[in-house]
Amino acid sequence: MGVALRFDSKVCIVTGAANGIGLGVATALARTGGVVYALDVDAAGLERARDELAIAAGKYVPVGCDVASATDIEIAVGRVLAERGHVDVLVNNAGINMAKRLGELEARDWDRVFDTNVKSVYAMSRAVWPGFQTRRRGVIVNVASIMGQVGGISSPAYCATKAAIIMFSRCLAKDGAGYGIRVNCVCPGYIDTPIMDRVLASMPDPAGARAELVARMPLGRMGTPADIAAGILF
Ligand code: NAI
Repeated sequence: MGVALRFDSKVCIVTGAANGIGLGVATALARTGGVVYALDVDAAGLERARDELAIAAGKYVPVGCDVASATDIEIAVGRVLAERGHVDVLVNNAGINMAKRLGELEARDWDRVFDTNVKSVYAMSRAVWPGFQTRRRGVIVNVASIMGQVGGISSPAYCATKAAIIMFSRCLAKDGAGYGIRVNCVCPGYIDTPIMDRVLASMPDPAGARAELVARMPLGRMGTPADIAAGILF
């Protein structure tokens, strides 16, 4: 991208910001001037990220938060509003995989992946929405997946959550348009992150499976968190 995007003093919330894509997005936003509230259940990962990235204090604020918990969300967003008065950007990135075919998929698995991947997007968006409407501005970017578009046999519940996020994003984009609120959805393909490591590790030959995946990719490599971060910042 030719133009350097700037987020000077923009108040940004990124969920799942301790690892992978969310960490890439939080880093990119903080390095372009944003004040990033980094929400994650992995509290140690958040602290590690802040230390390793040497992001200026106040630019990257780690906040322990389970996005499947309405109470945690209320506390986390309440804190941001109390400290900054408003939110400019919300990136709903936190998500888990559920690699179980229907024969093994229990109701509790279904609830867990929907609560983490979808209910969280509703609850986070709902929490910032009144402020966005009042200020007549605000941006939400939701992270879905190519799996929400094409599906796959090994993780039907995960794919269904991602399809739900795509449609919810479309509806919010229409709802928000009249208020100057923008809502977008990003659908990554295969990205080299800890979630991908875990998926590959569950296969009989992880190295072979990785090589096979990469061989199918026109770029000859998996995507990186920085690739997706660039799209989300745009
Ligand atoms: P990751 O596993 O590396 O990172 C996900 C982050 O979300 C972790 O820091 C984790 O602690 C956090 N998280 C999980 N459950 C949480 C909860 N209940 N509350 C708060 N934080 C929670 O995964 P990755 O690859 O960075 O994935 C990020 C998003 O991108 C996910 O929504 C995933 O479905 C999506 N995605 C990933 C792709 C890939 O190939 N890696 C492809 C397409 C979409």
